[in-house]
Amino acid sequence: MSIISDDNDFQTQSTHKKNPVVKPEAIEFDKNFENSIRPKSFDTYIGQSALKDTLKITIEAAKRREKPLDHLLFYGPPGLGKTTLAGVIAQEMGVEIKITSAPALERPRDIIGILMSLQGGEILFIDEIHRLNKVAEEILYPAMEDFYLDMTTGKSQTVKTLRVPLPKFTLIGATTKAGELSGPLRDRFGIIHRLEFYTDKELSQVIKRTAGILEIEIDEKGALAIARRSRGTPRIANRLIKRVSDYALVKHDGKITEQIANESLDILKIDEFGLDTTDRSLLKLIIEKYDGGPVGIETIAAAIGEDARTIEDVCEPFLLQAGLLQRTPRGRKVSPETYRHLGYKTKNANSAQQSLF
Ligand code: ADE
Repeated sequence: MSIISDDNDFQTQSTHKKNPVVKPEAIEFDKNFENSIRPKSFDTYIGQSALKDTLKITIEAAKRREKPLDHLLFYGPPGLGKTTLAGVIAQEMGVEIKITSAPALERPRDIIGILMSLQGGEILFIDEIHRLNKVAEEILYPAMEDFYLDMTTGKSQTVKTLRVPLPKFTLIGATTKAGELSGPLRDRFGIIHRLEFYTDKELSQVIKRTAGILEIEIDEKGALAIARRSRGTPRIANRLIKRVSDYALVKHDGKITEQIANESLDILKIDEFGLDTTDRSLLKLIIEKYDGGPVGIETIAAAIGEDARTIEDVCEPFLLQAGLLQRTPRGRKVSPETYRHLGYKTKNANSAQQSLF
């Protein structure tokens, strides 16, 4: 049986220790750090207020009916707190959560094993659910709908189907690409929500909370300066605070002020929009080589030496939301705002006033 991968504190303590572990693909940066600062309740979870309000009602209703929650699907750009929110829901429901991701559920026995390990009421969280293969999806359908598994035994003529009941559980799926989910899978989620980018004010609250946990001294303006360059994303804000704190400690007295945050982020080449060198080379390429676009994503990826998927999943959501990039049927285009932001005078390939590199 294969279960779950990283040592997330939301996971059940006992089961997966005894089981062989399937590592999902590259576990992003320092999971232990991320876990240590994850909020565990709605009170400490900042932002996504409309979603939180809906979830509180759903949770209260499920508790009163003494029934598990409907299956939930969260979608939106990476780093906005989908896993964190799933953990908060489990905590608020008073149930355990098992966390895995679709790439770790490659073989039928992976998904069967994890489903059979669930206890009544538990939450199963599947990250990157759009990457689930067809076989795993089909195993999941009756499990989600009627809480059973159809297992086959024997070979050819002697094959028998065994219907195995499962405890009632809640599936929480998370995806950065809701459009890539198959229709039948999407339809089996009772609740579907999009997570929004955070405002600077919300991010500055996240930063102050994290600073408190990590015992980092920071003032209001310092927190806001980091927030402004965090692309509306708590995961980025929490990453930057560590980098800025290192700088504050080595170059100053350890306290993060506006000036120190700005100095440090300038050195990291993160500009006042939160764009990094990859974002800027992407936009600059479209301006300088393709006269503002449109140009295909594969061409962009090859030219800047980045993976097309990384560009689509990681760079683009914020650039689109910030109005610095547009997706058209003929490819990616930049906007007049992009020219202004990068210091170009007009929509003319040769009119660069200054380079931000
Ligand atoms: N850390 C990451 N996401 C957070 C959130 N939404 N609220 C508080 N702290 C966080």
